[in-house]
Amino acid sequence: MINNHLFDAATYAARRARLQKEVGSGIILLPGNDDSPMNYLDNTYPYRQDSHFLYFAGISQPGLALVIDIDENTTTLFGDDLSIDYIVWMGPQPSMAELAHRIGVTHTAPYAALTDKLRAAKAGQRNIHYLPPYRGDNSIRLSRWLDTPLDQLAAGVSESLIKAIVAQRVIKSDEEVAELEKAVNFTGDMHLAVMKAAKPGITEAALAGIAAGIAQAHGTQPGYSIILTINGQTLHNHYHGNTLTSGKLILGDFGADSHMFYAGDITRTFPVDSTFTSRQRDIYNLVLQMQLSAIDALKPDVRYYDVHLLSARVMVEGLKSLGLMKGNTDEAIASGAFALFFPHGLGHMLGLDVHDMEDVGEQYVGYAGELERSKQFGLKSLRLGRALQPGFVLTVEPGVYFIPELMDLWQHEGKYLDFINYDKLQAYRDFGGVRIEDNVLITATGHRILGNPIPKTIAEVEEVRKAHFPLLVG
Ligand code: GLY
Ligand code: MN
Ligand code: MN
Repeated sequence: MINNHLFDAATYAARRARLQKEVGSGIILLPGNDDSPMNYLDNTYPYRQDSHFLYFAGISQPGLALVIDIDENTTTLFGDDLSIDYIVWMGPQPSMAELAHRIGVTHTAPYAALTDKLRAAKAGQRNIHYLPPYRGDNSIRLSRWLDTPLDQLAAGVSESLIKAIVAQRVIKSDEEVAELEKAVNFTGDMHLAVMKAAKPGITEAALAGIAAGIAQAHGTQPGYSIILTINGQTLHNHYHGNTLTSGKLILGDFGADSHMFYAGDITRTFPVDSTFTSRQRDIYNLVLQMQLSAIDALKPDVRYYDVHLLSARVMVEGLKSLGLMKGNTDEAIASGAFALFFPHGLGHMLGLDVHDMEDVGEQYVGYAGELERSKQFGLKSLRLGRALQPGFVLTVEPGVYFIPELMDLWQHEGKYLDFINYDKLQAYRDFGGVRIEDNVLITATGHRILGNPIPKTIAEVEEVRKAHFPLLVG
């Protein structure tokens, strides 16, 4: 079904004009996504259009491809007018000409004509710019269109197209920021509802259902698989089979898309009881301090790599004062010992994708040739390292985790004995993990946290918990 939410046609036309200018010559091919079957052809996963296609052509509908012929200075939307059968089952749909008009494109052509267009371009030795495909059916289609074996598609990917698209998409316009802010506000509603509904005896699945239901009630959907777990030490835990029990923490990392498919990506952690225990308080406040000091440091020209390390430094100092770490802070950071507790990156770019443009390669989006990505455990998972620019939108999501398997392995290997008090860690084996995540815009002079505030300090979280679940005090 066509989405009714589009920017003005002029927005898409301006984006395409800039892309065309930057790529310079040849043909730019942006295939849309098709429906993806779950178990048989007509029973599909929820439809999601390709984000590059959305950026340059806006339309959320299967069966389309956009081709910008730079040399001929034409842009064509390839696709077929829908059959009466389709309309009988799925309802009336706009014509191809109408769709093209909505996005400022004047040429349309049947989908089948794309094969001839690309074959002719190839025969004429013209450069066909395409991005790395991430779906099997699009890979097969590309392989056929370009008469290139599947295993050689990667070698033909256009780096100039990747760079031109990243340069454009990485800076969010005001109208994109407004969309992101809507996504964050839908997401805040999801988090608040979960924070109100949680109590011992309810399942993670029931809470995940509440979160998803709120996204749906806003007319949209979660932008990525919901993480909602009492085992927050498992970073991307999609299992929802546990029942909440008193004494545990709940980590919820989920978000809704806006109606134009911009993503919110928020994490909150709170107790199953209405108040934090003193041990939970210590770790929670430490993660909050890591997050606030990282956000405070955000402004143009600051490298996100350095902000990650700044956050790690706050953590090491805090864990030292709790007796869980020891030794020289600089060395604990340089050696990578800190990653026992903080094994992921501080954040990533956010936009039409929750990890924005990760499909084209994180090195182009988060490093851009400015610095080498670390191979060290923990730091290697930092998706964004480059210097910040006004218009970047990114997540700030530090965490502290107690992962028994990792603690046991490192202790067994005798790793980082100068920095980690393994004996003291034993009491934290069932602690879980704390992560706090917000979405932040880099402005000309600093930064702005997107969306309405979502309870975050201990006082704010406990106020919500006590109001809705007053009986049990941990
Ligand atoms: N939700 C995935 C992430 O925070 O990166
Ligand atoms: Mn997240
Ligand atoms: Mn994130």
